[in-house]
Amino acid sequence: MKFLRSALAFLALLPSAFAAFGVTTSGSNMIVDSGAGLVTTINTANGDITSMTFNGKQLQDASEHTQLSSGLGSATVTSSVANNIAKITISTSTITHYYIVQSGVNTLFIGTFASAEPTVGELRFIARLLKSSVPNGVVASEINGGTAIEGSDVFLLNGQTRSKFYSSVPFIRDQVHGVTGSGVGVFMIIPGVGYESSSGGPFFRDIDNQGSAQQELYFYMNSGHEQTESYRTGFFGPYAMAVTTGAAPSANLNTTFMDSLGLQGYVPASGRGTVTGTATCIIDMLFLTLALQVPTPGRWLELRLRWLILEDTHEAWNLSAPVSTVTLYQGELEAGTGSVTVTAGRTSTVTLTSSLSVPSVIWRIGTVDGTPAGFLNADKIETMHPSDTRMSSWGPVTFTVGSSAASSFPMAQFKAVNNPTTIKWTATSSQIGARTLRIRTTEAFAGGRPQITVNSFTSAAPAAPPTVDSRGVTRGTWRGLNQVYDFAIPAGTLTASTNTIQINTISGSAGDVFLSPNFVYDSVELF
Ligand SMILES: *[C@@H]1O[C@H](CO)[C@@H](O)[C@H](O)[C@H]1NC(C)=O
Ligand SMILES: *[C@@H]1O[C@H](CO)[C@@H](O)[C@H](O)[C@H]1NC(C)=O
Repeated sequence: MKFLRSALAFLALLPSAFAAFGVTTSGSNMIVDSGAGLVTTINTANGDITSMTFNGKQLQDASEHTQLSSGLGSATVTSSVANNIAKITISTSTITHYYIVQSGVNTLFIGTFASAEPTVGELRFIARLLKSSVPNGVVASEINGGTAIEGSDVFLLNGQTRSKFYSSVPFIRDQVHGVTGSGVGVFMIIPGVGYESSSGGPFFRDIDNQGSAQQELYFYMNSGHEQTESYRTGFFGPYAMAVTTGAAPSANLNTTFMDSLGLQGYVPASGRGTVTGTATCIIDMLFLTLALQVPTPGRWLELRLRWLILEDTHEAWNLSAPVSTVTLYQGELEAGTGSVTVTAGRTSTVTLTSSLSVPSVIWRIGTVDGTPAGFLNADKIETMHPSDTRMSSWGPVTFTVGSSAASSFPMAQFKAVNNPTTIKWTATSSQIGARTLRIRTTEAFAGGRPQITVNSFTSAAPAAPPTVDSRGVTRGTWRGLNQVYDFAIPAGTLTASTNTIQINTISGSAGDVFLSPNFVYDSVELF
């Protein structure tokens, strides 16, 4: 016992393990010590994090560093310490990136100001960690040793498809994600306000993790990974990278202390106002989401994006925009908009009502919610490629109204794989006549869109959907631009017996297998 005590006393004297809080610079190494076990080394020539030790254990990969984008090339790196807070400022002509450490807290608080989009066309923070220290990431994103099967970013490993895209989580639910190892965890924390300058809205999803030779941990602020909205500039965050003994940290990141740090573009509480409101949903059992967006950023006192889920009617949330457009979502489907003037220090009110067309239908397949939830393979598509052997067979599917389950209807229709989808429907004499078939889609690739044939009638070909310059559903997401296609079925087409409705994927483009033109179904309605 005595021996053990003196051994511990000796360990405590080792300089690297329990040094005091503060910043020291030696050559090109700026060393930031939390005083509580986390020691971070920043290269003063380019802002890269080149070492990160936790209780003496190295977490940083030696060959690939932790950085913004793929590194800033060169940067001016300065530090200041006051009130037990160390602020590291990394600047280029368009970027001001901050690492902030509070004495006694093993968390890097981070903020990124960008006056222009990086020329690489995306803005991201990437930690490239030492795989042996934090081997456990998202299984669907572990690709080390795999064979690329699509776009050099989807792999086959041990018979399973894997991709960094399969770690993505819709922003609205992505507040904490991380990687772990023996006695250690490294986690990104992004509070809701941390997404204010991001692009794509509450349901946009982007890469969180990839297990390669390194353990990669990300916060994507914007990217061309199925970009549905213009990029913003300004202050991104605050966000954080927290190091723990393994447990996930709370999503309630207290960033109040950052209000007084003079961060470029940062909007403190004193610049924010509150909005309360009510919203009405017309389909029961769906979550309502309100998102506030400003399409043309620029002024500092401006909200870029904020949202919350309303399960009932009243909520209040703090905003920094003078004027915002509020979007009401039914599920992930835009259902209505309103505008509200947000004034710093004041509370404003907005009332929203869904303006979605809700016809009285003869039948409906799926739910009108901007997602393919419930359809064939919808439960798997977010974490695997459509070619994965764990997927159910794609068909082509024949679906019988009244007896087939929605789970047999394909969530996506690929021109070269499961085309067409056939719907069989036995109508009564009161259900025929001139009708409308409405197909809602959530995403399209290579111009894919539906065209229908009902018995002997073939509809006109609808115009191509808006182009999103990216692969879509093969990257594990259905979140594109929601579209609605209304097909008028002329009187005399339907019969009071069995009708055959064929939905074809059409496009002026071509492609192979799952990269052939395709779209994702939200719902099909006849009225
Ligand atoms: C957040 O931190 C501030 C100090 O920066 C403190 O005054 C406040 O009580 C904290 N809030 C919560 C909810 O812990
Ligand atoms: C929201 O902002 C108001 C000022 O408009 C402030 O009084 C209030 O404390 C803030 N609430 C939160 C949760 O930040």
